[in-house]
Amino acid sequence: MSGVKISKLLEQESIEPERIIDSIAIYLDQDGSVLTKFSPQDWAEYINEFVDEQAYITVQKRVDSKDELEWMYSKLQRLKEGRAFILIAMDMKRDRIAGVLELIPDHFPFQHRCEFSVSVRPEYRGKGLAKEMFQIAIKEARKLGYLNLYLYVSAENRDAIKLYRRLGFKKLIELKKERFHYGKLVNEVIMVYTGAPNRKI
Ligand SMILES: CC(C)(COP(=O)(O)OP(=O)(O)OC[C@H]1O[C@@H](n2cnc3c(N)ncnc32)[C@H](O)[C@@H]1OP(=O)(O)O)[C@@H](O)C(=O)NCCC(=O)NCCS
Repeated sequence: MSGVKISKLLEQESIEPERIIDSIAIYLDQDGSVLTKFSPQDWAEYINEFVDEQAYITVQKRVDSKDELEWMYSKLQRLKEGRAFILIAMDMKRDRIAGVLELIPDHFPFQHRCEFSVSVRPEYRGKGLAKEMFQIAIKEARKLGYLNLYLYVSAENRDAIKLYRRLGFKKLIELKKERFHYGKLVNEVIMVYTGAPNRKI
């Protein structure tokens, strides 16, 4: 993979490239406007790829553009509050979403905490895209004042856990049979960001 373009979208009209690595741009959205660049159909196609491979994401049945329109609307509302953002990695050559990282804020009395959720389309995996997005997201979360950064991951999602450990997340607790995953209950791990990479799995 040659040259990923990472950009920060600050205002509706201004896109500031942070650095160029490939033909993929990561947009940091702070006012929600970037979502309007993608149609609900684009989002539906993106999500359905994960559903088809039974990936460990919350959605477990195929969605259509109507579902995604509702999703986009609720996200836009949250982004307008200014305590959340979504990073979008775009394949600029193919004008296609490659990956998404979302910061989900907690509310009173846990407003110092936020959760991360990440996904990368199968064909773009193993190229460091999730890692790149996390590195940006962690910095941006700190700028927004979040003290505790955490994420949920299925105990069966070994590759993701490996990635999170390398990024500096540490297992806090494993909840037995917590996640419903395509007909069975599987363990769920909560990981917190410690800042220190941990290579143990
Ligand atoms: C988990 C996921 C987001 C990783 O995305 P990615 O862009 O492929 O991850 P990266 O390329 O940044 O990986 C970074 C590191 O993990 C390793 N890694 C990533 N995917 C791997 C895989 N499938 N097998 C082995 N190692 C893998 C990379 O080698 C890399 O290691 P390095 O830092 O030593 O080079 C992606 O596989 C995905 O979207 N999976 C389906 C949805 C999902 O599970 N989301 C997470 C929910 S908690």
